[in-house]
Amino acid sequence: KLKVATIGGGSSYTPELVEGFIKRYDEFPVSELWLVDIEAGKEKLEIVGNLAKRMVKKAGLRIDVHLTLDRREALKDADFVTTQFRVGLLEARAKDERIPLKYGVLGQETNGPGGLFKGLRTIPVILDICRDMEELCPNAWLINFTNPAGMVTEAVLRYSSIKKVVGLCNVPIGMEMGIAKLLGVEHSRIRIDFAGLNHMVYGLDVFVDGESVKEKVFSLLTDANNTSFVKNIPGYGWEPQFLKALNALPCPYHMYYYKTKTMVDKTLESAEKEGTRAEVVQRLEKDLFELYKDENLNIKPPQLEKRGGAYYSDAAVRLITSIYNDKGDIQPVNTMNAGAIASIPYDSAVEVSCIITKDGPRPLTMGDLPVAVRGLVQQIKSFERVAAEAAVTGDYATALLAMCINPLTPSDTVGKEILDDMLEAHKEHLPQF
Ligand code: NAD
Ligand code: G6P
Ligand code: MN
Repeated sequence: KLKVATIGGGSSYTPELVEGFIKRYDEFPVSELWLVDIEAGKEKLEIVGNLAKRMVKKAGLRIDVHLTLDRREALKDADFVTTQFRVGLLEARAKDERIPLKYGVLGQETNGPGGLFKGLRTIPVILDICRDMEELCPNAWLINFTNPAGMVTEAVLRYSSIKKVVGLCNVPIGMEMGIAKLLGVEHSRIRIDFAGLNHMVYGLDVFVDGESVKEKVFSLLTDANNTSFVKNIPGYGWEPQFLKALNALPCPYHMYYYKTKTMVDKTLESAEKEGTRAEVVQRLEKDLFELYKDENLNIKPPQLEKRGGAYYSDAAVRLITSIYNDKGDIQPVNTMNAGAIASIPYDSAVEVSCIITKDGPRPLTMGDLPVAVRGLVQQIKSFERVAAEAAVTGDYATALLAMCINPLTPSDTVGKEILDDMLEAHKEHLPQF
């Protein structure tokens, strides 16, 4: 028996995950897939769960797909637990994105005030899941996809007894795929030395067949069309001399830090025109679930690629498969630093290229980050730590501190206004405050 439990199973990304399990069934013969959701997600779970069953049937595989609202039943004796839940659903995300914009501050779900509040809502739930895991499946691996993935991994490492946790993001794999395409080579020939934090990760070098092509890639990333990599962030291109001097490959989320004004203006503009990303995604999701209802559909529909989490299944299932088979290949994941990045605390979560073994990810030594990026990475790590502490304690002053030390918050006074506004708007999902 090989059992996987997926928390937030009603997500529209589930067909993506199921496709991943089907593709890699030879290497990872999962026999039970338990999709878990809550009362509010019951209808979605039903629809997407039935599609998952049809996909498995069409592939001719014997994977029993179970749909349940009973998390404990799903976790019992699981080998792998994957999480893809969203506390407060897209409605809460829309508030994360709208409220900061009123103050001229970036409205985004994983960066700035929005990222803080998504963390405050999510961390108590993940810690609750960890307590269930301790009791029901103490040997299972927790593969966390739930955002803010870096902060969530940090919180699990710091505040739970679950050590077998890996945080996962599709940005590094998206960058690998995107750069492979720009260079016209197969994905498998590309390797990037990733180091940093989730949504704050840099490529320190890029290799094709083991030879550095960093300079060439820098020159490609000055063109706006080449810098998007994920559907939810448009690309604006990098100043050639800036990139050369930085001497590291930024990820798409770095645009919020190195092009702050442009990104706030563009986010405001599109919020007025077509709605915030959450509102766009609400419409996308509605269309997707209409498609999923079709009894004749038994594959992952291509329309799902309009979501930012493309290649999520590839990233998640290649990771699970490598752990299960002790593959020893290199993958970028969120894990305990353990000295890999010299300028980040030993026991903090980092996003870094790792060798993936049965005993988990072994981070590759990256040494010190370039001096020009070190400070920002450390600042965001401090933000994640303070935010996680606020989520656990429910302490107002700690939450205010997290809000104000975030580089996207312009002042303590504006930070406090945003904090108070958001605490009120989200109070239903913040029982700790
Ligand atoms: P979604 O709004 O569809 O939510 C997924 C499901 O979670 C819903 O069906 C909902 O009912 C359920 N849920 C909410 N609270 C729950 C709880 N306490 N227990 C169990 N289930 C619960 O979200 P989505 O757009 O599919 O995204 C899911 C998650 O994945 C989000 O946290 C999102 O930020 C994250 N995500 C991460 C990445 C990454 O790179 N790591 C990429 C894309 C999405
Ligand atoms: C990717 C990120 C995720 C993010 C998602 C948003 O960029 O890696 O962490 O949450 O896309 O996608 P969406 O389609 O929900 O806006
Ligand atoms: Mn991500």
